[in-house]
Amino acid sequence: MLVHAITPNTSYEFAADVRAGLTTPGQKELPSKYLYDDVGSALFEVICHLPEYGLTRADERLLQRHSYDIVGRLARPIAVAELGSGSGRKTRQILEALSRRQLTRYYPIEISRAALLMCERELSDIDSVSILGFEREYLDGLLEVAAQRSSGQHLLVLFLGSTIGNFDRPAGIQFLAEVRRILMPGDSLLLGTDLVKSSAQLLAAYDDELGVTAAFNLNLLARINRELDADFNVAEFEHEAKINHQNRSVEMHLRSMRRQTVNIHTAGISVDFFEGETIWTESSHKYSLQEVCDMATATGYRCEAQWVDEQWPFAENLLVAK
Ligand code: AVJ
Repeated sequence: MLVHAITPNTSYEFAADVRAGLTTPGQKELPSKYLYDDVGSALFEVICHLPEYGLTRADERLLQRHSYDIVGRLARPIAVAELGSGSGRKTRQILEALSRRQLTRYYPIEISRAALLMCERELSDIDSVSILGFEREYLDGLLEVAAQRSSGQHLLVLFLGSTIGNFDRPAGIQFLAEVRRILMPGDSLLLGTDLVKSSAQLLAAYDDELGVTAAFNLNLLARINRELDADFNVAEFEHEAKINHQNRSVEMHLRSMRRQTVNIHTAGISVDFFEGETIWTESSHKYSLQEVCDMATATGYRCEAQWVDEQWPFAENLLVAK
């Protein structure tokens, strides 16, 4: 795979985001994208295999069962772009169904180089698919992909795994609108969304018995130690998952188990924590089927079809740019 124009996230930007998130008065927070360095991406892969975390398997089952139906509804010819390719396992179903009908160009867009390489290894054997990866933020990458398309060629954008759930609702809607602005009428967005489910099921999924999600979350502190010359004592923090009923989301936090001060040299800050204070690191919003269609129609798409898993409430939504 050709990995296009490498733009590694500078540690300057990381330091600035950490400084802003930990020194602004009130709830401390860190952007969830920083959970996904090489270690975090590998731990997330393990999460996807945990019995409590049914989301990824539901996504995979739906794509396995319905890939021909999905592909049959797309305009042709078409290239595929994926926002956050992850391992590429889910994408295989779509690419195989498409490559029966045409030579297919596939553009994975990922901020994690490790994930891009994993995706290449997983998908490189499919005949008549060529892969061109972009190590970029989603919208930057999508703009470049759109610039590469030949006239009359449509685009299918994959945004699977309910990654959209990392955004709060207004930001999710804004993101759909921004993607729409890059698309042409008739292009499609296949959007995976985790659906509302019981608090017990959600708490188990985001605070698993083995502690893999805890390690995934705590890795963010270890990453700050590694990359920003900081002295977090990771053992003095604990993972916490909590339901935000009002936002219909699960929040992940890192809770300081005692009063302490942490120095982050590259960011030029010392941060005080009171006992029990948390850093909010990720949110995972849950949706209803109707809500997804409403978000789509409000941002310039037609809701073409929705497929729902029977075992774990999760939906694939095929949205067509109007
Ligand atoms: C990759 C954002 C979809 O929110 O379910 C899983 C991330 N965090 N367990 C999710 C995650 C903790 C995941 N997404």
